[in-house]
Amino acid sequence: MKKNYYITTPIYYPSNKLHIGHSYTTVASDALARYKRLCGYDVMFLTGTDEHGQKIERRAEEEKVTPKQFIDNIVDWVKDLWETMDISYDKFIRTTDTEHRETVQKIFKKLFDQGDIYKSEYVGLYCTPCESFFTELQLAEGKCPDCGRDVEEVKEEAYFFRLSKYQDKLIEHIKQNPEFIQPQIRQNEMLNNFLYAGLSDLCVSRTSFTWGIPVEFDEGHVVYVWLDALSNYISALGFMSENDEMYKKFWPADVHIVGKEILRFHTIIWPAILMALGEELPKQIFGHGWLVINGGKMSKSKGNVVDPSFLVKRYGSDAIRYFLLREIAFGQDGNFSNEALINRINYDLANDLGNLTSRTVAMTMKYFENNQLQEEQEGNEFDAQVQTLIKEQVELMEQNMEKLYLNQALENIWVIIRRLNKYIDETMPWVLAKDEANKAKLAGVLYTLSEGLRIVSVMIEPFMPQTPEKIWEQIGITRGQYTEWETIKTWGTLPKNVVAKKGQNIFPRIDKDKELEYLDTLLPKVTEEAPKKQSSKKEETKFEEISIDDFFKTELRIGEVIECEKVPKADKLLVSKIKIGDEIKQIVSGIAMHYSPDEFVGKKVIVVNNLKPVKLRGIMSEGMILCASDNEGNLVAVGPLGEMASGAIVK
Ligand code: ME8
Ligand code: MG
Repeated sequence: MKKNYYITTPIYYPSNKLHIGHSYTTVASDALARYKRLCGYDVMFLTGTDEHGQKIERRAEEEKVTPKQFIDNIVDWVKDLWETMDISYDKFIRTTDTEHRETVQKIFKKLFDQGDIYKSEYVGLYCTPCESFFTELQLAEGKCPDCGRDVEEVKEEAYFFRLSKYQDKLIEHIKQNPEFIQPQIRQNEMLNNFLYAGLSDLCVSRTSFTWGIPVEFDEGHVVYVWLDALSNYISALGFMSENDEMYKKFWPADVHIVGKEILRFHTIIWPAILMALGEELPKQIFGHGWLVINGGKMSKSKGNVVDPSFLVKRYGSDAIRYFLLREIAFGQDGNFSNEALINRINYDLANDLGNLTSRTVAMTMKYFENNQLQEEQEGNEFDAQVQTLIKEQVELMEQNMEKLYLNQALENIWVIIRRLNKYIDETMPWVLAKDEANKAKLAGVLYTLSEGLRIVSVMIEPFMPQTPEKIWEQIGITRGQYTEWETIKTWGTLPKNVVAKKGQNIFPRIDKDKELEYLDTLLPKVTEEAPKKQSSKKEETKFEEISIDDFFKTELRIGEVIECEKVPKADKLLVSKIKIGDEIKQIVSGIAMHYSPDEFVGKKVIVVNNLKPVKLRGIMSEGMILCASDNEGNLVAVGPLGEMASGAIVK
């Protein structure tokens, strides 16, 4: 009997356009699903879309279509993208599917009937014209941040889930099952930041919008966010439906792969719901890091092409998949830039893997009749070392895959690839080829390379599903007896008389400078209309054109002036203590002619926070306060136009 393996991705929320960072979750899950299949598991791999909520209702309204029409378009696009990225999902769930809707309604009813869901009041600040709730912090000077009008405290009837009831059981479960939350550091984060701090009950229904799953027994209520979204993992298997065979077969999930920002919903709310339902908990929830640009979350405006369909079309799905899985280290964030992508393609794929393949094949064809290795072969002093290294790396890769350390698993493969390339330099087949007496030795070298390449090609398949076939064709094999996972553990599986065949260059090198230039031209030019210059005799400061990347090197933050005094013996200088988030910095500024210390205290300003500290008149200054000045000698400090917490990023 095959062992079962159930793996899920977060269901994508189609309100904002999907960028290359989003595809990480799905590509990572796909690599695992493929690996498990390769190892002989019966895999169920679920992905889908999370389609309800007020945001989507709004977006649809703006575009003058129904929410369903709005989403259908995006879902088609997402499915196309997953196809081009070779995402081998077994099921695509949409939270608007009838089966999902019915399961959620049954779950809601059951939890209500048994007292785990109860009716109460949701309290929030509401802007009637905008039909939106805000928190205190979101308001702009006490007003609606969208339209600037007054908000009112509104109480909305709502259902709540008794999350607090499960707090102790959850803590217990997490402690008893160290594998439950991975990576380990995230486990402590969940315990310390949320569970020990105490859980509040969770609002699970709303009446202020209608685009959601209706609460059957209370008209006007729709199920709110997480209860709807999380239930997809079991509704997809037919939980509480007439046909729950899949549920019986695959639940509990082996792993839910999720981004770190939604880990707490998956490790706290989701298990609590399952506990309330009396169902088993997933075996593991894995929280991965983000793909970031210059350390910040992805957005379109940072001077890099982040549209996944473009990237896949231009570089191929395998290259993009490789990049994503290699660049995001286990438990950490990875950086995306056009340049980082091209470097990976050039160094790891074209150089390391591409050259190993083309050299092996070319030399076999050049030195042997009919492109076929002779069966009479002789080893050399490097063989044993290469074989041992391969055996070790295969074992390490298996261990890393078990722990979901995908980037390290890739590194194991590249250790082999680099070793094989070094083996070419060590054995120098072109020298052996000069003497007919060395023919058996030469055949032995090329066999080691071909067999190594076969093993590598099987190992990369979960990550890069298209490349193995291209390699197999060139070393004269097809999918089957030489490409199963177990076969890579036996050295010498490849027939000795392998026939090489010239194939396409699997990863052509990219001309980096030209390519980066081209990519730059694709980005919308971020230019602003120059302000109309006031006629002025004094010279204007001249600025060079910079890229948006240059601009983003400047860390601008909101700061609050909490103390301020004059710098002794310096007419123009004030020294201020500025609170920036949790930090307090000392900054010296030349503004004493324009502000008295008293009037400056309490002001919110914008601070250049990553400026190298300097001493001014013997006083340490750890940043700069932004000020506007004109040619007439006027100066004002610049600050936020609305309420904004200190520490907030300005960009
Ligand atoms: O959160 N790098 O959906 P979503 C890596 N609908 N991963 C990223 C990323 C980045 N730059 N940006 C986003 C939701 N992601 C909910 C899930 S599950 C029951 C409901 C990841 O579309 C993000 O971490 O906002 C998440 O795992 C996934 O993309 C979908 O995000
Ligand atoms: Mg999100």
